Amino acid sequence: MKITLIGTGYVGLVTGTCLAEVGNDVLCLDVDPRKIDLLKSGGIPIFEPGLDDLVRRNVAAGRLQFTTDIEAAVHFGDIQFIAVGTPPDEDGSADLQYVTAAARNIGRHMTGYKLVVDKSTVPVGTADRVRAAIREELGSRGVDIDFSVASNPEFLKEGAAIEDFMKPDRIVIGTDNEQATQLLRRLYAPFQRNHERLVTMDIRSAELTKYAANAMLATRISFMNELAVLAEKLGADIELVRQGIGSDPRIGYHFLYAGCGYGGSCFPKDVQALRRTAEESGAPLRVLNAVEEANEAQKSVLITKLKARFGEALAGRRFALWGLAFKPNTDDMREAPSRVMMEALWAMGASVTAYDPAAMEETHRIYGDRPDLTLVDTPMKALADADALLIVTEWKAFRSPDFAAMKSLLKAPVIFDGRNLYDPATIQREGFEYYPIGRRV
Ligand SMILES: NC(=O)c1ccc[n+]([C@@H]2O[C@H](COP(=O)([O-])OP(=O)(O)OC[C@H]3O[C@@H](n4cnc5c(N)ncnc54)[C@H](O)[C@@H]3O)[C@@H](O)[C@H]2O)c1
Repeated sequence: MKITLIGTGYVGLVTGTCLAEVGNDVLCLDVDPRKIDLLKSGGIPIFEPGLDDLVRRNVAAGRLQFTTDIEAAVHFGDIQFIAVGTPPDEDGSADLQYVTAAARNIGRHMTGYKLVVDKSTVPVGTADRVRAAIREELGSRGVDIDFSVASNPEFLKEGAAIEDFMKPDRIVIGTDNEQATQLLRRLYAPFQRNHERLVTMDIRSAELTKYAANAMLATRISFMNELAVLAEKLGADIELVRQGIGSDPRIGYHFLYAGCGYGGSCFPKDVQALRRTAEESGAPLRVLNAVEEANEAQKSVLITKLKARFGEALAGRRFALWGLAFKPNTDDMREAPSRVMMEALWAMGASVTAYDPAAMEETHRIYGDRPDLTLVDTPMKALADADALLIVTEWKAFRSPDFAAMKSLLKAPVIFDGRNLYDPATIQREGFEYYPIGRRV
């Protein structure tokens, strides 16, 4: 099949590449010429395990191409995926300007039937807006060309995106006509040879499903984070509580880890956008107000512990940070807790030496050169002369470090662990002062 991806970011590039891998002809469009130039010259604009090999292989096979030429991209694909960003608007609702622009471009240039598929995370009713924008453009051209609009929200996780796309738990498809359903069924057939994974529904339900999934996951995290704060007050251990409740199959173990807050390009904005939709519809989701509030508070939990230990006048102090990305296996820093922590430390006069296996360039892009931020290329180098270590992202490489070497490098053996990586008894035996989240120490 001939497929166009409109938007070549995390979702567009992964989707396009995986669809090419199973034999489709794919053209990825982006309005950012630097991104397209980089891809054309063999580079990969994002860090995503396994993606570079897959892109190279499919480009070499002639199945995957990149362009900034909007007209060519619209002509190319029988299926046009819209995978552009939907960042939060000032009031928290999803900003649909990029989705609408993509839809208008399709209406402006299409000459035959197109199936337009919203893959971006978009509020309920967006398919109607996409349809209206295309119709308006066709109208102003004075032509009447058949097209359909469908919703196919994406559930891939950054850091495991290829695996998620190639072996999805489910593929949600919202359509209002059989032709569109059949086309998408054919497109996704290679990804469900083992068993049926397609969940078909109406468009509005599909649009809501994506928000409901992210809001549910964010709710689990915030619930556990608040419970961790309570556990500390009560002298209980959140890790034991997690195991105790996770063993119940109605609850399960996933997404029950207490930590220093969720971030990333999805949960914060999707929770906000769903709240906004709910308020506007007169059916407020009160639980989500608490989810958001708890998360904002949680991003400062390590800093609160640090202030209790070192006081608030931190001028002259230096802190080591392990982990900058909002989660492991990505370089994505959007809404990352590390940013809240670094900014709080800087505001109190401290400086930061930080290490992350993937997000150093991104950190430098965001903060530039500044005297109170030093980026180093190994975790151990970050510790030299630091008053304490803050662990912010649970990269595997941080799980079993050389504690003796760490002790000799740090000014004092103090660890604030925002991801509960270590067993409190063991690390205390190693001679560290240890401040985890919700654990008994
Ligand atoms: N990142 C994730 O893990 C993830 C997972 C599931 C769903 N989503 C959703 O998918 C959507 C895309 O997310 P992302 O992380 O890939 O975003 P991104 O910011 O990485 O990529 C979006 C791309 O779209 C391009 N673009 C904007 N307007 C365009 C236009 N008119 N024509 C062509 N290209 C255009 C931008 O230049 C950018 O490269 C969002 O709605 C997001 O919520 C993201």
